[in-house]
Amino acid sequence: MNHCPVLPPCMILYYSPQEKSFLAGPANDNQPALIEVTNEEAHFLMLCDGNLTISEIAARLHRDEGDVKTIATKFSGEPHAVLQFLEEEKNEYTPDPHTEIAYQILNELDSANSYTNNITQLHQYHTETISDAVEQFESTETTIAHAYSRPHPSLGGVSYGAKFAKELSEIGLIDKGKAILEIGGGTGYLARDFLKYLKDNKPRTYKHIHYTMLELSPVLIKSQKEQTALHCPVISHVTGDALAAPFSSGTFSLIIANEMIADLPSVRMKKEWVDNGSADQIPRESLPALKFIKNFNIPVDDAFPEFLVNLGAWQMMEKIYHLLSHGGTAVIIEYGSPCMYPVAVHLKEHTEYSIHFGHLEKIANKLGFETRLEGLADFLKMDPDVQVLNSASFGTLNQSILPHFNMKPLPTLSFTPEMLGEFLGDLYHNLHNLQFHPLKEAAGPGNPSAFYALTLFKREAQPS
Ligand SMILES: C[S@@+](CC[C@H](N)C(=O)[O-])C[C@H]1O[C@@H](n2cnc3c(N)ncnc32)[C@H](O)[C@@H]1O
Repeated sequence: MNHCPVLPPCMILYYSPQEKSFLAGPANDNQPALIEVTNEEAHFLMLCDGNLTISEIAARLHRDEGDVKTIATKFSGEPHAVLQFLEEEKNEYTPDPHTEIAYQILNELDSANSYTNNITQLHQYHTETISDAVEQFESTETTIAHAYSRPHPSLGGVSYGAKFAKELSEIGLIDKGKAILEIGGGTGYLARDFLKYLKDNKPRTYKHIHYTMLELSPVLIKSQKEQTALHCPVISHVTGDALAAPFSSGTFSLIIANEMIADLPSVRMKKEWVDNGSADQIPRESLPALKFIKNFNIPVDDAFPEFLVNLGAWQMMEKIYHLLSHGGTAVIIEYGSPCMYPVAVHLKEHTEYSIHFGHLEKIANKLGFETRLEGLADFLKMDPDVQVLNSASFGTLNQSILPHFNMKPLPTLSFTPEMLGEFLGDLYHNLHNLQFHPLKEAAGPGNPSAFYALTLFKREAQPS
C-alpha cells in the first residue's frame, strides 16, 4: 500500500511517555471523545501527517511493515475509523468536509425567514435577549474584532482596535477636532484599544477628538462604558437605533460601523416585482427596497427570480450621508461579497445577512460618496502568512482535551502557535496534529477573508 495515512484535522493526539496517551476528537453528545492509545500506537500516529507511506513509517520506527499495518488497521477500521489515506503525498491542506462541517457557519438562502426576522424581532433581540456582553462574542457571534482583541502578530503586534486607529491615522483620517461616531460597538474593546492607541501614540490628536458610541443593547452599552471608562473626558455613550440616530446633520467627521450592518433587516425581493409588480402584490416590508432599486438604479438582472436585499444596510447609507460632515469619512466593515446576494447566517437566537457590497457601493455613489472597497485584511494591512489555529483543532481542544484535564476552555481568539503555547503551558508540547494554517486560508475563529471594508468619502462642500 503506497497511500499515506493522515489524521483528520479535528483529531489531536495527546502523547506523554509517563501517562496514558490518547487520541481526541470533537465531543460526542457533549462528552469528550477520547481513544486511549499505547506508546507504540502514539509513535505511529505522530507520523501520520499524510507525507509518509506505511513502509516509510515502518522504516522510521525501525519496525516490521506488517506490524505497522496492523496498527494502521486498528485506527482505520471500525470502531475508530479515524485514519484516512491520501493517494498522493500531501502537499497542500484540503479541509475534510466531514470533519470541518460542524464548525462552519451555516449559510443558506432563507427567504422565508426574512418575513419573520423583521425589524421588531431584531430590535427586540438586541434590546432584550443579549444578556452577557463577553459571552455574546465568545460563543454566540464571534466577530473579527473579538477574535483579534489581544495583540496579534498579523496586526503587527497590536490589537484590532489599535490597528484600526493606526491605519486611519496614517491616512490622515483622525486629525485634530475629529468627531468620531462608532455604531454598534459590541463589548467596547475596539473603542478602548482605538482610544488607547491614540492616547499613547498621538496624544495631541487624542486631546482634541470626541468619540461617541451609539448602541441599541443596554447590556452592551454597559460593557462599552466599563471598557472605555479611562477615556471618559473624550467619550460619550448614546442608547439608540442606528437607523433613527438622534443626531443632527453633519455632526460627525468619522463614522465606524464594524460588523454591525449585517444586524439590520434584509427583505425578500422578486424579479417580477421589480419588472412589473403592482404595489398590492408586494409585501409591505419589501416596498421600501423596491423604491431603492428604482431610485438608485440598483442592478438586479443577475439575481435569481427570488432573492434577498440588504434593506437596512441601504437605509444606513442614507443615514451615514446625513450624519457625516462634508469632507468626512465612514468605514463600514462586514461579512459579505462584492457581488453575492445576501445569505442568511444563522446564529444562536437570531439571524444575520451577509452584505452585497456591490449594491451598497452603488447607493453610496449615487448619494454622492466616493468609495473604496477592499478586503478587510488589505484594509488593516494584516500579514496573510501568519499561522493561526483552525476551527477543527479549536473545537477538539475545547470540547475534549481541556475538559479531560479540568482546564478552562480557550477564549475565542485567533491563536498563533506561540499564543496557544502560552495558554496551554506544558500541555501544548504533548499535543500533536494541531492544525495551523496561514491566515489567508485558515478557517478558524476570526478568519478575515470573507470580510470587506467599504470606505465612504463625503466630498467637501462646494464653495457657494
Ligand atoms: C455583531 S455585533 C458587532 C460588535 C462589534 N462592533 C464587534 O465587531 O465586535 C453588532 C453590534 O451592533 C449593535 N446593533 C445591532 N443593531 C443595531 C442598531 N439597529 N442600532 C445600533 N446598534 C445596533 C449590536 O448590539 C452590537 O453591538
